[in-house]
Amino acid sequence: MHTNNTAAMDYITARLGSEGSPMLAFGGDYNPEQWPEETWDEDVRLMREAGVNLVSVGIFSWALLEPSEGVYEFGWLDRVLDLLHANGIRVDLANATASPPPWFSHKYPQSLPVTADGVRHSYGSRQAFAASSPEYRRAAAALTEQIAGRYRDHPAVVMWHVHNEYGCHNQPDYSDGAAAGFRTWLERRYGTLDGLNSAWGTAFWSQRYSAWEEILPPRTSGTWVNPTQQLDFARYSSDELLECYKAEAAIIRSHSPHPVTTNFMGFNMGLHQPVDYWRWAEHMDVVSNDHYLIAEDPRNYQDLAATADLTRGWAQGKPWLLMEHSTSAVNWQPRNIAKAPGEMLRNAMQHVARGADGTLFFQWRASRAGAEKFHSGMLPHAGTDTKVWREVVQLGQALRNLAELSGSVVTGASGGVDVAILHDTDARWGSELDSHPSVDASNIAETRRWHDAFYRAGTTTDFRQSTDDLAGYRLVVAPMQYLLTDEGVKNLDAYVRSGGHLVVTYFSGIADENDHIRPGSYPGAFSELLGVHMEEFFPLRSGEELELSRFGGGSFWSELGRPTTAEVLAEVVRGPVAGSPVVTRNAAGDGRAYYVATSLASVGMAELLGVLCGDAGVEPLFRDLPEGLEVGRRSKDGTDWTFFINHGSADVQLAVSGLELISGRETGGALALGAGAVAVVRSNGSSSATS
Ligand code: GLA
Repeated sequence: MHTNNTAAMDYITARLGSEGSPMLAFGGDYNPEQWPEETWDEDVRLMREAGVNLVSVGIFSWALLEPSEGVYEFGWLDRVLDLLHANGIRVDLANATASPPPWFSHKYPQSLPVTADGVRHSYGSRQAFAASSPEYRRAAAALTEQIAGRYRDHPAVVMWHVHNEYGCHNQPDYSDGAAAGFRTWLERRYGTLDGLNSAWGTAFWSQRYSAWEEILPPRTSGTWVNPTQQLDFARYSSDELLECYKAEAAIIRSHSPHPVTTNFMGFNMGLHQPVDYWRWAEHMDVVSNDHYLIAEDPRNYQDLAATADLTRGWAQGKPWLLMEHSTSAVNWQPRNIAKAPGEMLRNAMQHVARGADGTLFFQWRASRAGAEKFHSGMLPHAGTDTKVWREVVQLGQALRNLAELSGSVVTGASGGVDVAILHDTDARWGSELDSHPSVDASNIAETRRWHDAFYRAGTTTDFRQSTDDLAGYRLVVAPMQYLLTDEGVKNLDAYVRSGGHLVVTYFSGIADENDHIRPGSYPGAFSELLGVHMEEFFPLRSGEELELSRFGGGSFWSELGRPTTAEVLAEVVRGPVAGSPVVTRNAAGDGRAYYVATSLASVGMAELLGVLCGDAGVEPLFRDLPEGLEVGRRSKDGTDWTFFINHGSADVQLAVSGLELISGRETGGALALGAGAVAVVRSNGSSSATS
């Protein structure tokens, strides 16, 4: 097993070039079974024309590979893999377990997942299985054994793709099988019923359990189901699916040394994430992610940037792989807006700038039939005389020009990344539970606001967990980290006292890992570290704004309280808690801890960032970035590659020296970047941008 993502990603990129020289991965899901075999020759010819070097094959092929139980037919897949190999195209081979065939679900109806309301899913779409189902696990293991055994030495295969987007359509499952699995998981976690009753706070509402058999998943009930039961069920459900992945990955690893991955659904940070990717990432050789723009979000490229940074966090800062994005429109949003000219290249370069060693798409050839027939592909319905195809060819060329940066890591102005944003899964899940002070307080939205502020300032940020070693960061932000373990709280306290700068926002450190309130002044975990005594939440009415003495206005949230040892940087001037501190700074040990008790708008946030970065000694990659200009940097062996991605509508002039790799031209000290354009400059850094 590859324990190091750099090595595993290098293993793949080294196999993508024709002479063994590393290449960034470029290609997509290839579903040849949807097309007559005569089409395949045209597919590989066009793949070569576009410079495709890696395709994912077999993801949804179970019904064809095992047409009836225990009967396998691999002839067509043999021919596809041989054809790809003959054309120098490498394969990320799936074990095809993502969509059990109708014969399976028909024969084993008990394997189908059940909703919280007790409705059993039917088959007829995909992912129609319960993770706890022994029948599913047995069949998936048998199929994996067949595929890994048969193709272990196939020369086209360079990596393995287990399943597809775990938990996308079948999570959580509330079936009786899940109930049994949940009980086993709980017994392991708590040991005794007393332990469980105490952790779940079952003295409330007469919920005390007197036997394990009484415990159920948090199925639909009259009103709010016990919050700790909900949280534990989310944890259990993630772990149960992870067991499926681990079992299939272990079979593959027993056959083959190629890296193993499953594609995460970090796509769009705002969507609910049903599995804990921090825990899952430990079991990946290469972290891979799928990202789709929310087409109608005018700053969807900023969501892309945040998600790519988060994916790099899961990969512990090492190179990762963009397994899927789209060349243009998707099919699953209310209005599936097509990408504007140049948008796909900008998106792809954003991922590379943020650590991806390749960008793949869903999918190679747009389907003629099925639910996704209106989803764009690399090869559109309208063929090669199209904007999409020309841009695919252009992107393939651009990635070839950037091959030298494979294996490099993302860096900031100081040569490392100086800022970390915390994003614990439990904190996110905990904050998303019901019966909280305000529906407007959103962990994801607040996290996005902070990421956006650094993004606009041109400052590179990592994502980390509260329990990680944070010593290398000058500034750490904890946006709405509602629920934290004791270990996380201690870690953050020690980080500050040994010289770090920690920003804690409202509704952080409120609950412990069982979702019990941490007692004392709010925020219970940090009131002493922050030097504040906050006593009551005053969430704002819909549309209400706070007026502050500095940093503009505040939304959604305010708190009644006073400083104890903290210096007040801003107080509420108008609003329900006039006179209460809203932004504070407290010296603690060798470091400083800041509290932000409301949600700041972007202008005030930028002003606050100036204070925070000044205190912590954090520099941006570039100062005074023109609106819409995204910058990023990767570095390796003393060389820097700086990305300039112009999402704006104005041309910009940049004082930058070095070789621009996409055009192959020296900048001669001045880079003209047109509206919508992208440049990647190899240099030794120390450039500045002017509009
Ligand atoms: C996901 C899936 C793909 C496809 C795309 C469509 O990422 O993995 O199979 O359904 O969505 O956007």
